[in-house]
Amino acid sequence: MERTADFSARSAGPDDTAVIAQAIAAVLVPGDVLVLGGDMGAGKTTFTKALGAALGITETITSPTFTLHQQYEGGRFTLHHLDVYRIDQIEEVIDLALPELFESGGAVVIEWGDTIAPALPAGFALLSFGFGDGDDDRHISLTAIGSAWHMRVPGLKEVLADRLIDRQDDY
Ligand SMILES: Nc1ncnc2c1ncn2[C@@H]1O[C@H](COP(=O)(O)OP(=O)(O)OP(=O)(O)O)[C@@H](O)[C@H]1O
Ligand SMILES: [Mg+2]
Repeated sequence: MERTADFSARSAGPDDTAVIAQAIAAVLVPGDVLVLGGDMGAGKTTFTKALGAALGITETITSPTFTLHQQYEGGRFTLHHLDVYRIDQIEEVIDLALPELFESGGAVVIEWGDTIAPALPAGFALLSFGFGDGDDDRHISLTAIGSAWHMRVPGLKEVLADRLIDRQDDY
């Protein structure tokens, strides 16, 4: 999945990451898939918590590391939250029944989803989380795969304009 990101945004702390999550939640529609990758501990779950809250989910979203898949209702639509970090066999990916989830009408967020590229749908947003200089500094880049996400890039860049990082500063 070697593609140049469509944009990178700077986050100076969890609240900033929440603002980025809110911007993405605002354009999210049922059936969307977000693939979260990048550095370990850089903020994928923190982002997902804020995304869920922005969708109107009141239940606390926790890291699905040990359950692999959690489902949250009560928001604009169902949110499926998966973490495939611990998956090392293709059988376990099959057990997740991803094609059914992608067709279920909910949104699907997959932490470490970039590690199961063959199991991903034709279109999704790849969000890559990286560390910046300060303890709480993060870079969050978005790569649109497929036209549905590509079309949303200009609007997202406009909303996040004051946070965008020049390509040459990209990590
Ligand atoms: N700018 C930031 N954005 C997101 N999280 C931040 C930021 N600054 C500090 N943090 C902290 O970094 C940690 C990120 O942990 P989190 O579990 O969200 O990462 P993760 O990418 O899901 O980890 P893992 O790779 O283990 O799944 C949290 O403790 C969070 O409070
Ligand atoms: Mg996590």
